[in-house]
Order: sequence, then C-alpha cells, then structure tokens
Amino acid sequence: MADDTTDTKSSNQMWGGRFASGPDAIMEEINASIGFDKKLFAQDIRGSIAHATMLAHQGIISAEDKDKIVHGLNTILSEIESGNFEFSRQLEDIHMNVEARLATLIGPAAGRLHTARSRNDQVALDFRLWVKEELQKTEQMLTGLIAAFLDRAEEHAESVMPGFTHLQTAQPVTFGHHCMAYVEMFGRDRSRVRHAIEHLDESPIGAAALAGTGYPIDRHMTAKALGFREPTRNSIDTVSDRDFAIEFLSIAAIAGMHLSRLAEEIVIWSTPQFGFVRLSDAFSTGSSIMPQKKNPDAAELVRAKTGRINGSLVALLTIMKGLPLAYSKDMQEDKEQVFDAAESLELAIAAMTGMVRDMTVNTARMKAAAGSGYSTATDLADWLVREAGLPFRDAHHVTGRAVALAESKGCDLAELPLSGLQAIHPDITDKVYDVLTVEASVASRKSFGGTAPSEVRNQIAFWRARN
Ligand code: ARG
Repeated sequence: MADDTTDTKSSNQMWGGRFASGPDAIMEEINASIGFDKKLFAQDIRGSIAHATMLAHQGIISAEDKDKIVHGLNTILSEIESGNFEFSRQLEDIHMNVEARLATLIGPAAGRLHTARSRNDQVALDFRLWVKEELQKTEQMLTGLIAAFLDRAEEHAESVMPGFTHLQTAQPVTFGHHCMAYVEMFGRDRSRVRHAIEHLDESPIGAAALAGTGYPIDRHMTAKALGFREPTRNSIDTVSDRDFAIEFLSIAAIAGMHLSRLAEEIVIWSTPQFGFVRLSDAFSTGSSIMPQKKNPDAAELVRAKTGRINGSLVALLTIMKGLPLAYSKDMQEDKEQVFDAAESLELAIAAMTGMVRDMTVNTARMKAAAGSGYSTATDLADWLVREAGLPFRDAHHVTGRAVALAESKGCDLAELPLSGLQAIHPDITDKVYDVLTVEASVASRKSFGGTAPSEVRNQIAFWRARN
C-alpha cells in the first residue's frame, strides 16, 4: 500500500496544492465517475459556456478570456461528439476531464472558468439538465403510446371481449374500452412527467460549493441562458438534494408498473388458450427446440425492465436517506441509477407502442369468450329489477338459479328455454333474450365512463382533443 517515502505517484493536477501524492489505485477506481458521467458532456459544456459568459458580463473575467474559454469548450464539444476525445480516469469525472482539456487547448485562461462555482453546483446543473431533457423525451414517447391506443380503441369501439375481475370472466366490455383504460393510465403518467419538469425547472449554477459566492454573479442570467424558469433559492438545498432524480425514478416506476401490467395482459392474450391477440414476427421470437412456438419476448422484457426501474428507485432513495446536508460523495451514485432506468423506460415505451400497433386482434375469439362464463348474468338480474320490479337482491338470487340451470344443462344463459326460466320466476318473458347477448350488454352500459360503444367514442374524442 502507499507509504509517504516510497510513493512516486504524482499529485492531482486540479488540487495538487494540498496533496503530496496521487491516489492509491483502488482510491482512483472507487472515486472515478468518468465511466458513466461522460454522458453529461453536452450539458457540462453548455453550463460552462453560460457560466463563462455571465462571468464576463459581470466583469469577473475579461471578455478576451471568455472568448477563449467558449471557443475551447466548443472545440471540446466537437472532439467528444466525433469520438476524438480521450477520457481519463485519473481526471475523475466529466467536469475535470473537460477542464483539463480546456487548459491544454487555451492555456491559463482555462483556470478562470471555475471562478465562483464548484463541482457541486456544476454536477447539480449538468444532471438537472439531463433529467429535464429525458423527461421531455418521456413526455413525447408517452404521447406516441397514447396515440397508438387511441387508434386501436377507435378501431375496436364495438369489439366485445370479456371483462375480468380476479382474471375470471366478469362482464362483457369492448376492447376499445379496455384500450382506453390504458390511455387514462399513461395520460396520468404524462401529467406526472409535466409536473416533474415544472419542479426541476430551476437553475443550480451559482450555488457554488454550498454557501453561494462572494463574486458579483448574476444567477438570473445563467438561469435564462440555460432555459430554466428561475434560479434555485437556497444554495445548501441546491447542492444537497437529488429529489428531481428520485422524482424521475418514481414516475418511471409508476409508468413501468402500467407498462408491465399491459405486458402481462399481452402475454396472457397471446397464449393459444386465450388467442385474443397475435403479435407479428416483428415482435416475437421462436424457440430453438419447439418449432411450433412463438413467444412474446418483447412483452416479457417490458415486464422485466420494470423490475430494474424499481431497483433504481429504491437504490437512490437508499443512497440519499442518510446523508447530512450538504453534498456528500455518495451522491455520485445517483447517475447510473437514472441512466439505467431512463434507458429501460425508453425501451419499454417504444416496444409497447410497437406492440400495440402491431398486434392483430382476434375479435371472433374475444366475442366467443365474452359470451361464455355467464357474463350477462348481471344483465339478467338488472332486467328482473327493471321489467319485473324485483329488488336487486332477489333478482340476484333468481339469476343465480338461472346460472345453475344453465350450468347443469351445459349451455349459456341465452340458450335456456323460456319454460326453464319461467319455472324459476313466472314474470320472465321472452323479452329477456334481448339483454342476454353480449352486444346488448355492452350497449346498455352508457353511464359516463362506461363500456357502451357510444360512451367509448366520447372518451376517444375527449383524448383526441387532449393529445
Ligand atoms: N463527480 C462528482 C459527482 O458526480 C462531482 C461532484 C464532486 N464534488 C466534490 N465535492 N467532490 O457527484
């Protein structure tokens, strides 16, 4: 291990003043974040350009130095974008990699860039900018997914399928109505995204290490240049908190949960036993041993990505929960969680949008399934209430006997002879058959938000105007 007399490693070029030797190899390895935070290069450079421009505007650095800095930073940006930049682990993170390269490119003027700022407000800025862009991308992707569902809902406003509770056939619904349920869920996810953008729309730069700075900086100017609504109001909070990242992860986890339920339904619906939908070859895989198989791998992976996203949320909450104010290095571990979750969420939304548009809906299978399992039993009970004046509880009992009779005969409710029904209750007439079909059942459920095709079309019109 390192020892004062034998250590020949050079001290850090950024803070070498106080350090006689460089870090131990393992220190370098645990400390370095460049392996992942290089993803922030564009945000880092944008932030530095805004900061340098403000410093010159305030007379803190000269216009000449500012011009050199901005030119150098733009050169670095194109170097990184074209893959001609050598990232160094010794330089720890993206901030110091960029600054060191700037020093090589423009000389001593580079040293003036870090006036009135710290890596603490710098990283808070870079990361906020990144998360903000990711939220904007998520918002757009959710809009695409909602649009896909609206199209399928329109196409299937009249297609009848079984509605389930406990995954047991409950009442007939339309496939359009089922699609619109997801539109509501993803619509709420999108509004959570919009709120999160509002929450984080404050510029951290200028909070410096934690206490602000004695230089006459203009934080409103940098906030504006970087597209933030306003600067953050408390410098300690600014460098301490990562709730904007946690908010992104919680939104991702909730959206992931919705995506995963949909994935689960697609997995179930595409089994030969259900046969409600079929995914094309574009969204399925085969088996290496069983030639007959077609597997919904994309849906299964969407389900699995949700597990990863949940893991990231719990990881970052746990990283943050014990930290005293202000900055602690623990916070460096925030990025990988967010990057991984963002990648998973993007993939999951894209795959789901693809599958929703791709899947072939077997309306005949759905309709047949909708009629089995005595799914119109509630309609029979409602008919008895409406037409024969029975209290609902009595109607429920009479209907139960009709179901038992159908079960013993191995037929559906609509196939029971009138004499059989009249033996259970004398007031039943042949008009009852009008409500025993699945079409009549769904058409009757016109209550606001209900499954009747007319109501589903109202829901679609509402969302088309909103989307
Ligand atoms: N790489 C660090 C991070 O991601 C940057 C901030 C470093 N600040 C510090 N005081 N060492 O959090």
